[in-house]
Order: sequence, then C-alpha cells, then structure tokens
Amino acid sequence: MPIYKLSSLLFISFLSASCTFSPSSPKGPDLGKPMTQEDVRKLDISIGPDGIGLPSGSGNAISGQKVYIAKCQSCHGEKGLGKPADALVGGINSLATNKPIRTVGSFWPYATTLFDYTRRAMPLQNPKSLSNEEVYAVTAYVLYLNGIISEDYLLSNQNLAAIKMPNKDGFIDFSKQGSVQYK
Ligand code: HEC
Repeated sequence: MPIYKLSSLLFISFLSASCTFSPSSPKGPDLGKPMTQEDVRKLDISIGPDGIGLPSGSGNAISGQKVYIAKCQSCHGEKGLGKPADALVGGINSLATNKPIRTVGSFWPYATTLFDYTRRAMPLQNPKSLSNEEVYAVTAYVLYLNGIISEDYLLSNQNLAAIKMPNKDGFIDFSKQGSVQYK
C-alpha cells in the first residue's frame, strides 16, 4: 500500500477513535457483546493448589500412556524425555546442582498445575481439545514417569491436590515473609 494511503487511513482511524471513545461519553463504543454465564463458565477453568474447581473425573497412567503416545509424544518425546519440546520427566534433585534440569517432576510444586496447564494449553496445536478424563489420565502418566505415583493409581478430583510434588518445599512463600534479605 502506498505510504500516503496508509497515513490517511491511520488519520481516519485516529479521528474515529477520538470521536467514539471519549471517556466522558455516556454511551460506549458499541463494540462486542456482553458475555453470558456460559461464556464465562468456559473460560473460568483455573485450578488452584487446593484443587478447588477441579472437574469430576479420574484416570490412571495406564490409560494416560495411550493419550500421551497419541497426543503428546510427537513433541515431548518417548516417556516424556523431551525433544523437540520440553522434557516433562527427570531432573529430580538436580535443582541445587551446577546443572539444574527443570521439569514438571523436578520443579513444579503442585500437581494441580499440571492438570490445569495441560487442560488449557496442550496439545499445543489443539488446546482445550482433551476430555477431563484424558487430562486426568495423561496427568497420571506424567506423574508416574516421574516416579511420583504408581502406574495403577487412580488420579481424580478427590486426590490430585494431595499429591506431594518433589519440589513442593523448594519455594519461598513471600506472602508469609516479612522482608527477606538475600545474600
Ligand atoms: C505440537 C507440539 C506439542 C504437543 C503435541 C504437546 N505439547 Fe506440551 N508443550 C509444547 C511446547 C512447545 C511447550 C512449551 C510451551 C511454552 O513454554 O510456552 C510445551 C509445554 C508443556 C508443558 C510445560 C512444561 C514445562 O516444564 O514448562 C507441559 C506439562 C506439557 N507441554 C504437556 C503436554 C501434554 C500432556 C501433551 C499431550 C496432551 C502435550 N504437552 C502436547 C509442545 C507440545
């Protein structure tokens, strides 16, 4: 596009923006539409460390392995060892060494984050496509590969928040500190 056209376009959009978006204007710019309860429900999927908000469901590593091979392995490698994308397994007890390896198993303090992250963001090319059962199962598989639960442990909304991750106590909770001095 020639430069003069672009600049006149910019000028027009500047003009229209300043006409319709005046803060004192009693009426909004009439953009978008109000969200319904249903719209909010679909987006409101955050799970905290206490597990509040987990959907009911369950799965174990045996079924999770099938989900993993079909939907995760191409990026995260066989048995979660990584390549081309991040390793999801290994590195436990490596964080305080000269070669820290940060994975879900070695670094993440809460198992609920693994559920939340997988449900909202994975598989990378098709996020939010997994059923809750698949998310529980593949979460169980990743925890199993890290030696955190056994292969037949039935992971569910009842017990996920109680899983103790290896690095749970490796973080400093600033909300409980006064002022902390680091050397
Ligand atoms: C197309 C490739 C691809 C697929 C398929 C995929 N992932 Fe990922 N995954 C990625 C990439 C890339 C990242 C890093 C994203 C970032 O850092 O923003 C990632 C990050 C992650 C992380 C966070 C790792 C960390 O330590 O930060 C987890 C957990 C994860 N994926 C789980 C899964 C699971 C479970 C599946 C299958 C359901 C899956 N991924 C499928 C590419 C993929």
